[in-house]
Amino acid sequence: MRDRETKIEIPAQRSFSVKMTRNNVAVFFLAAAIAIPALAQSGADNYKSKCLMCHGVDGLGATPAGKAMKAASFKDPAIVNSPDAALIAIVKSGKNKMPEYGDKLSADQIKSVIAYIRTLQK
Ligand code: HEC
Repeated sequence: MRDRETKIEIPAQRSFSVKMTRNNVAVFFLAAAIAIPALAQSGADNYKSKCLMCHGVDGLGATPAGKAMKAASFKDPAIVNSPDAALIAIVKSGKNKMPEYGDKLSADQIKSVIAYIRTLQK
């Protein structure tokens, strides 16, 4: 009887501590979901599907298409220092071989893709 009691007690304690951990993890993810703006997420997705082929994963424009079209490097100081509004205008209306996206992306999507580009400049 004593042995059995001990056996029940230990798993019970373990399962309690697992529960606590799961709660903490859930709280952590909830906090992260609030802290990471959903906008940045969709910016990354749109960047990957629409911009990456020319501008590259790193934003340096070193892909074959980027090199062929002379895509700008986002780390270029001129672009780093360029205000969001100027970059938004170029993404909207295009510039030389840079295609225009005003009809493919909403204003919010363009904003979030620029926010994503800003993360590549660091
Ligand atoms: C077909 C290739 C191509 C694609 C796709 C492309 N770009 Fe570009 N991008 C260019 C080229 C080329 C330039 C350089 C334009 C210039 O200055 O002549 C450029 C320049 C830029 C600049 C810098 C503008 C400046 O001079 O300040 C930004 C910002 C930019 N692109 C954002 C984007 C975004 C965001 C997307 C996706 C929605 C995108 N590009 C998709 C080719 C591309």
